Parts: sequence; structure tokens; C-alpha cells
Amino acid sequence: MNQPRRVEHQQTDKGYVPIYTTTVIEQPWEGYSADDHATWGTLYQRQRELLVGRACDEFLAAQDAMGMTPDRIPRFTELNEVLRAATGWTLIGVEGLLPELDFFDHLAHRRFPVTWWIRRPDQIDYIAEPDLFHDLFGHVPLLMNPVFADYMEAYGRGGVKAHGIGADALQYLTRLYWYTVEFGLIDTKDGLRIYGAGIVSSKGESLYSLESDAPNRIGFDLERIMRTRYRIDTYQKTYFVIDSFEQLMDATAPDFTPIYARLAEQPAIPAGSVLDGDRVHARGTGEGWLADGDV
Ligand code: PHE
Ligand code: FE
Repeated sequence: MNQPRRVEHQQTDKGYVPIYTTTVIEQPWEGYSADDHATWGTLYQRQRELLVGRACDEFLAAQDAMGMTPDRIPRFTELNEVLRAATGWTLIGVEGLLPELDFFDHLAHRRFPVTWWIRRPDQIDYIAEPDLFHDLFGHVPLLMNPVFADYMEAYGRGGVKAHGIGADALQYLTRLYWYTVEFGLIDTKDGLRIYGAGIVSSKGESLYSLESDAPNRIGFDLERIMRTRYRIDTYQKTYFVIDSFEQLMDATAPDFTPIYARLAEQPAIPAGSVLDGDRVHARGTGEGWLADGDV
């Protein structure tokens, strides 16, 4: 039971993507097959092992607090009891990616859309679109963190606003989501850690983002991020590193309207560039920031 109801495919800035019905559906939990549960279990076990010492503590602790285990696909209703008590967020079941405005509106009301179906066994290592594993394993745990939970709501409200401003504003805001919620790294006292859902749900990128010398790791800078293109078909060429979730919240609190206007005057930055003034992190394993001129 893993056939989503696709409505159509559409060319967007994220490539040729399926567009699904916007209907909120109850998770058809009884309908999952033994294969579906086994796929969850395999992925859960593999990523958890890999992520100890690589994902931030908040993420790992939240998975435990929510009662996620490799044994079976979690029930949204059970997760919702814990989540509602912790931060007031609610998971809702959806068929897949939503149109932007619907997605923003859910976030603005502390509803997180989770794809109900899980990838097939032959898609264990890679699937081009978000499925239940990416959404639930990757995104949901940090909704337990009060600061991150507020950030996601603020993002949703900012999205509704940007949608009303125009396509450029939306693109800047989408880059912020990409480089934080999906592919963010965080500097901790124990070294660099992952918090982005796109990384934690990928075995290859969990290793690459922290341990490869290939990508840049650059200190969080709101306008720098909004100007930076991103890759959807390969691992990222650049990761942005926050010092704390509070930093993320504070840096995104100002009104973006004048920022969007200012950015329209500036060229986009290629995904792999390092610029003068970027704070560059030496390595994924906690060697700290390079001084100016060390790069
Ligand atoms: N401050 C942003 C605005 O005025 C809203 C926002 C907050 C966007 C947090 C993203 C994240 O549009
Ligand atoms: Fe995602």
C-alpha cells in the first residue's frame, strides 16, 4: 500500500515535480504492509546508528521522547499526543508535496504536513520526492524543540506574506528553508552537528556534510543565504552553520519586506562560491572557525 494519488506533474523551480491533492487525509495505518514497516525499520536503524554523534542532541532526544522506534511505522495520532503537549504542533497526513501557499498556511497554524506513504524497498537509498521517512524521521523531531517550533510557525507566516509579494520574495524565502530546515548544520560545544531534515534522512549526505572536505561550511548569514542558489540533484556544495536555534530565530525576526527589495538589486551567488567576509568552518568535526585569511 504505497501508491499516492498524484494529480499531475508540473515544471517548477524545483524541477519537474508531482503535484498532489491538497486534501488532508487520515493516516491509513492499518493498510501498511509488512514491507512498509520493514522499510521504516531498516532506514530508522541505519540512520539512528549513523546519527549518534552527528545529529544534534535535540534531534536525537526528541525521537526518543516521541517514542519513535524501528519496530513499526509510528501512528500520527500517538505522536500528536506528545507533540501537542510539548509545543502545540499537530501532524496532518497528506499525499505529498503541497502547493506553496497551502504548505505555508499549515505551518502558520502549527500543522506539519506528513506524507502518509513510504518508499518502496528498492528506493531505500534514494527517492527524489519526500516520503513518510523523510517527513517523519527528518522533520518532525525538531518540532518538539520550543525555539525551532516557533521558527517553523514564523516561517509559515513569512511564507504567506512572501507569496503575496511575488515570485522573487518566494525564491529568497525558499532558499532560507533549504539552507536551514532541510540542510542546516549547527555548531555545538562538541563540534559540528546536523539538524537539517534533508541531511538526517540521507545516509550519504549525513557523512558527506560533516566529513567530506568538498563542501563549504559557512556561518549563518541571512542575506547571504537568500542570495545563494542550491542544488536539488546532488549533495550540497555549501552548508550554512548556525550557532543556536535562538540565533536562527533572532536573525529571522525582522521584517523581510525591505530585505527582499534590497536583494532584488543584487546578483545570485552560485551554490559553491566562497566570498570575502564568509565565516568558514574548518572541518565538520569540531575544529572551529578559521580566522580571516586562513581560507
Ligand atoms: N520575519 C519574516 C518576515 O517578515 C518572517 C519569517 C520568520 C520568515 C522566520 C522566515 C523565518 O517575512
Ligand atoms: Fe523536507
